Order: sequence, then C-alpha cells, then structure tokens
Amino acid sequence: MSLSLINEQPAVYEDPLDLMDEIEELKKSREATILAHYYVDGEIQDIADFTGDSLKLARDATRVTTPVIVFAGVHFMGESAKIMNPTKRVLIPDLHAGCSLADSCPPDQLAAFQQELRSQGRNFQTVAYINTSAAVKSLCDWIVTSGNAREIIERVPADREILFVPDQHLGRYLSEVTGRRMILWPGSCMVHEIFSIQDLIRARKNNPGSVVMAHPECPQNILEITDVIGGTEKMRKHVMSVAEPTTFLVATESAMIHPLRKAAPQHTYIPVPGIMASTGETCACNRCPHMARNTLQKLRDCLRDGRPEIEWKDFFTKAREVLDRSLLQM
Ligand code: 13P
Ligand code: SF4
Repeated sequence: MSLSLINEQPAVYEDPLDLMDEIEELKKSREATILAHYYVDGEIQDIADFTGDSLKLARDATRVTTPVIVFAGVHFMGESAKIMNPTKRVLIPDLHAGCSLADSCPPDQLAAFQQELRSQGRNFQTVAYINTSAAVKSLCDWIVTSGNAREIIERVPADREILFVPDQHLGRYLSEVTGRRMILWPGSCMVHEIFSIQDLIRARKNNPGSVVMAHPECPQNILEITDVIGGTEKMRKHVMSVAEPTTFLVATESAMIHPLRKAAPQHTYIPVPGIMASTGETCACNRCPHMARNTLQKLRDCLRDGRPEIEWKDFFTKAREVLDRSLLQM
C-alpha cells in the first residue's frame, strides 16, 4: 500500500466552506450519514453526523437509518461498518487509506502461524485488535478495540493461551493489566511507535504540572511515564472530567487535539512530537498518512459519485459473527 503525502493537497483548490455546503446538500440528496474517526481533519469531524473512536463508530454504524454510510477513516473501519450492516452501501473517501497495523498481519501468514501452534498442541484463542483486515478477523475468536480490550480478554477462558494480533505494544500492555500471558504478533502502528521519549521528557520538564496522556498503541518506554493510558474516547472523557485548567501532553495522532479542544476548551493541549529513526530529528510523524488521505474534496466526490464502495465478500460472514459477539453482545 503506497502512502500519500501528509496533509495531501487537492490538485485544484476549492474553498472549504463551499465544499462543506456541497457536502451538506449531497448528504441529504443521497440519503447518507457521515461517520468520522477522531484522527481525520477537524473540518471533516465538524460536518460528520457521528464522530468517535473505533468502538463507538462501529456501534454507531449499526444505528444509522439512511441507506448510505460514508466512513471518513481508514479501510478496516469501512469494512467493519459494511460487515455489521450488510444491507447498507458503505462508501469511503479513499480506498487506499490503509493502516500499518492491519498491513503487518496478512491473513495467509496468520493462518500458517495458527496452524503451526495447533500442530504443537497449543490450546489457544486468537484475539485481534480491530485494526486488521476482514480476512484476518474471519480467522479470529475475538475482536478488541482500545475501548473494550480488557473486558474481552476477561472473556477468554482461563485455560486457553491467547494469541494477540497484530499490535505487540497494545498486547504487551493488555497482558500487563490483565495478568494473561500472550503470544504477541510483531506488528505496530507507524504513528504511535515513533514518539520521542526525549521530547516527551523535555516537554514534561518545560510544563510543570502537565499530565501525559498516551494511547496504548505506544511502546512501553512511553507508557511508563504516562499518567493516563487510554484510547481516544477515554482521553476525551478524561479531559471532560477535569474542571481545573490543565496542560495535557498528548501522545497520539495529532488530529485528536481537535475533539479534545472541543470537549474541554479550558485545557492546553500539546501534541507530543515524533522522531525519525533514520536521522533522530523531530518530525510530523504524529499525523497518520492514511487518515490524512481523507479530504473534504474526496468526501464530496465520494458522496456525489457513490464510490469508492466497500463490496461484500464471502469471508465477511465469518468476520461478522466475531465482530457481533465482540462489539455488540456486551
Ligand atoms: P481508537 O480511536 O479506537 O482508540 O483507535 C486508535 C487508532 O489508531 C485507530 O486507527
Ligand atoms: Fe493505523 Fe496507526 Fe493510522 Fe491508526 S494511526 S490508522 S493504527 S497507522
């Protein structure tokens, strides 16, 4: 999957306010509902009908009453929305908006590894982070998101080992908080893996009294100096629960600052910068290049043209059982 440039620029400039008006009109005429993840640009979040983390959006998608869903996020999110709502058309603004975590776990490699474990007589269940392809989901027993992972892990029978895919950092963290031993797939998120521990320590020193919030997709060295560990919805709820103006150092995708500011404007939010492994320089790698593929222009085009669309595939049926059991039957 090739990556776009960060903050992809449209070939022809169009006024964002005009685009927003057009999108509002098209939403009505095409009978569509827009869902947007907290990591897409703020202006897209502002015109969406639902915003949220992966768990909230997957659940919101099942409550949509229009025949069309437009998912501003990445491919696995659109796929999950389609799987859980087979009768609806699910459109995504850019089919190439992928995910480094999903890419790190190809279904044939997972199936071969599961087979190897079985041939060794290992008695295990496979738990997949939602950031996986539908083909991978169809090979798993449970799906977790950052918002429900602990509860789901507790549902895995105690006499079973857990194969956790594909995020090694989230898996390590979950193993620590649940006390369950896990076989970890060696995947990671390109955004969360790159935070600079030195910059975070410096930012903490320069901002006395600040609170560090980090996503559990971050490596252990970041989580060890974090005050609030949680997915994006947990971060949002946390800042809303603090009345006293506070400085938060935020170690997640930088678009997350937008919903945090909206939810709790009394605070100061400082995005933790990333660091380039090759040169050691601070970079803008805390912006996910896949999420950044969602632009107002592409959202308008997708509503207008009715494509790109997520098409139903045979293995979605098996993936649906796993998703329903994990996200809806709680
Ligand atoms: P959540 O919003 O569910 O915490 O997920 C973060 C993420 O990386 C989505 O790709
Ligand atoms: Fe995937 Fe990371 Fe981008 Fe989320 S932020 S879509 S986990 S690459």
